[in-house]
Amino acid sequence: MKSVQGDEQARTRPPYPEPVDIERKAQWTKSAFDQYGVWQLVTTIPAVLTQVFKMAWRIDRRDVLVMVGAQVVYGIGSAVALAATARAMVPVLGSGSVSHRVHQALPALVVIAVAAGVGRVAYGLASWSVGRLKPRLMTAADVAVVEAMLRVELSAFLRPEFSEEHEAAETGSVRCDRLIYDVQSFMSALIKLVAAFGVLTALHPLMLPVLVLAVLPSGVGAMAEARIEHQVHTANSTGRNVRGMMRWHVTAGKLADEVRGMSMAGYLSYWYRTLSKRLDDRTLSGAGRQLRANLVAAVFGGLCLSLAWGTLLWLTVSGRMSLAIAATAVLAVRTALGNLTNVVHYAASLFHSSLFLGDWKQFIERSQALMPAAGTVPAPREPETIQVRDAVFTYPNKDRPAVDGVSLTLRRGELVAVLGENGSGKSTLTRLMTGLYTPDKGQVLWDGADVSRIDVNEVWEQTGFVTQQFGYWPVSARDNITMGQPVTLDDDRVWEAVDAVGMRGAFEELPRGLDTLLATELWGGVSMSGGQWQRIACARVLYRRPAVVVMDEPTSDMDPRGEHAMFRLLREIAPGRITVVVTHRLINTKVADRIIVMDKGRIAEHGTFDQLVKGGGLFQELYELSLDRGGRGL
Ligand SMILES: Nc1ncnc2c1ncn2[C@@H]1O[C@H](COP(=O)(O)OP(=O)(O)OP(=O)(O)O)[C@@H](O)[C@H]1O
Ligand SMILES: [Mg+2]
Repeated sequence: MKSVQGDEQARTRPPYPEPVDIERKAQWTKSAFDQYGVWQLVTTIPAVLTQVFKMAWRIDRRDVLVMVGAQVVYGIGSAVALAATARAMVPVLGSGSVSHRVHQALPALVVIAVAAGVGRVAYGLASWSVGRLKPRLMTAADVAVVEAMLRVELSAFLRPEFSEEHEAAETGSVRCDRLIYDVQSFMSALIKLVAAFGVLTALHPLMLPVLVLAVLPSGVGAMAEARIEHQVHTANSTGRNVRGMMRWHVTAGKLADEVRGMSMAGYLSYWYRTLSKRLDDRTLSGAGRQLRANLVAAVFGGLCLSLAWGTLLWLTVSGRMSLAIAATAVLAVRTALGNLTNVVHYAASLFHSSLFLGDWKQFIERSQALMPAAGTVPAPREPETIQVRDAVFTYPNKDRPAVDGVSLTLRRGELVAVLGENGSGKSTLTRLMTGLYTPDKGQVLWDGADVSRIDVNEVWEQTGFVTQQFGYWPVSARDNITMGQPVTLDDDRVWEAVDAVGMRGAFEELPRGLDTLLATELWGGVSMSGGQWQRIACARVLYRRPAVVVMDEPTSDMDPRGEHAMFRLLREIAPGRITVVVTHRLINTKVADRIIVMDKGRIAEHGTFDQLVKGGGLFQELYELSLDRGGRGL
C-alpha cells in the first residue's frame, strides 16, 4: 500500500491503518447468475420483456403502442426490402442488355426504396417513443425505491443486508435507462432476423441451422461476459456502499470544518484511494476473465462462421444453388448474421440488465413485507395512558438487551423525564413507547390497546418526536416547521411555533423570509447554528400540537436561555398531553412530575426530583457529579 500512502508520509510516521475489508456472508455474495444455468437465462428473457412492458404500459400506453407498432413496421420494411432484393437479383445477374435487366428489376428496386424509407421513419418513431419512456421509467423505478425506504418499518434499517439490498435496487433503477434501449434494440434485431431467416429458408433450408450454429458461440461468450460483470458488481457491493457513505461524509460541507480542523484530509484521501483501488482490483480481475471468455467465443465463432460460408460455397459449386440465388443468399446471410449477433448481444444485455432489475424488483417486493402491519385494533385518540409492560428489546447484532424488562405507565397531563448514562437505553425506550420498535418480549399499550396491533401510522399521527439525531431538512424555513402537516393560508401558526422556541429574530433576518431555503448548499440558501436547528426541531413538534410529545435531548445544543424557555414551555403544554423528555442536564428534571432513571436497560430508580436527589442512588451520584467541577484535575 506504500504507493497509495505516499513516500513522504510513510517516512515520517507509521502507516495509516487500512480501511476494514468487510467480509460479506456467502449468501449475499451470490449473484443471480450463480443460481441459474444458461438455459434458464435464455428463458427469463420473455419474463423480463413482459415486466418492462408492464412498467412502461403503466407510464404511457401511447408511447408503448408507438414503440411496438413502429418496431413492427420497421421489421416488415426490412423483410420486404430483403425479399425484393432477392427478386431484383435474378434479372440483375441474368442475361440480356443492362437497360433491359435494370428495367426488369425496376419494380423490385422501387419496393426496396419505399420499404427502406418507411423502415427509417418507423425506426425514428420507435426511438422517439423510447426516448420519451426512458426518463419516466427511471423515475418510476427510483420513486418506488424512495417510497419503499420511507415506509418500511424502522427495524428494517437494523438488518445488516438492508442497505446492500437498497444499493442493488438503486443500481436496478439506474439500469432502467439501458433496459428500455436494450428492449428496443432486441426487438428490432429479432424482427429483422426473422425476416432474413424467412428469406434464407426460402432460398435453401440448410442455411438456417448452419447460421444459428455460426452465431451461437458469440452468444455464449456474451452471456459469460455479463455473468462475470454481475458477479464482480455483487462482490463489490459492500465496499461500494461503504465508499459511498464515506464520500458523502468527505464531500459534505457540514463536516468540512472537522476534516480541516482535525487534519483528517491525508488519512481520508488515503482511505478513499485504498478502498477505490480494492474495488478496481476486483473489477480488473473480472476483466481478465471476460477477455478469456471472449477469446474462446471468438475462436469457436470463427470456426462456425467458416462452416457457414463453406456450406454456401459447396451449394453453389455443386450446382445445388444458382449464382443469382447464391448472391441473394450472401446478402441474406450477412443480414441474418448481423442481426443474429445483435439478437444474442441484446438478449445478453437484456438479461444482464434484468439481473439488476431483478434486484430492484426483489427489494420492492421484500420491502412490502417490511411494511408495518395494517393493524387490527383501532388507535385510541388522544390517549390517557401509555403503558410499557416488561418490555425487552435487543438490537439484532447485540447480545445484551438495550431495554431489559422495563415497566412504566405514562399518564396524560404528566411530564416525565428520563435520564441515565450513555447507552443505558433511553432512546430505545422512547422508540418502544411510540411504536417505532416492537418489543421482543412484553407489550406497549396505548389506552390498553397493544401498539403492535394498531396501525402505527395512526399512532405516529398523534406523536411529536424530537429525535436525538434530527434532520437538517434542505427545504424552506416554513416547510422545516410544517413538514407535511396541514398548512393554513396565513403563517400565523408557523410564527406561533417559531415564537415558542425563540426563533422569531433569526427567522425575520432570513433573506426571503419563510421561503428561504435552509441549506447553504442550495442557491440562495442559508444555514442555522446547531442550537438554532434544535429549536427548529422543537418548533416542528409544537406546530403539530400532538397528543404525545417525546423529546430526546431536545436542548443539548441550546444556550441556557433557550433551554430554560424550552422546559418552561414543556411544563406549560404538559396538561393536555403525555410528555416525555430525555435529558442529561439533571437540573432540567426539576420541572418533571416524575423522573425515570435508566441503568443498563433497566429502570434503576424513579420518583420526583426532591426524592431522588437525596435518594442515595444513581440520580444523586450523577447530580453531585454534575455540580462537581472542583478543579482537582483528572
Ligand atoms: N442501531 C443500533 N444497533 C445496535 N445497537 C444499538 C443501536 N442503537 C443503540 N444501540 C445500543 O443499545 C444500547 C442503548 O442505546 P440507546 O441509544 O437507547 O442509549 P441512550 O441511553 O439513548 O444513550 P445516549 O445517552 O448516548 O443517547 C446501547 O448499548 C447502544 O450501543
Ligand atoms: Mg439516546
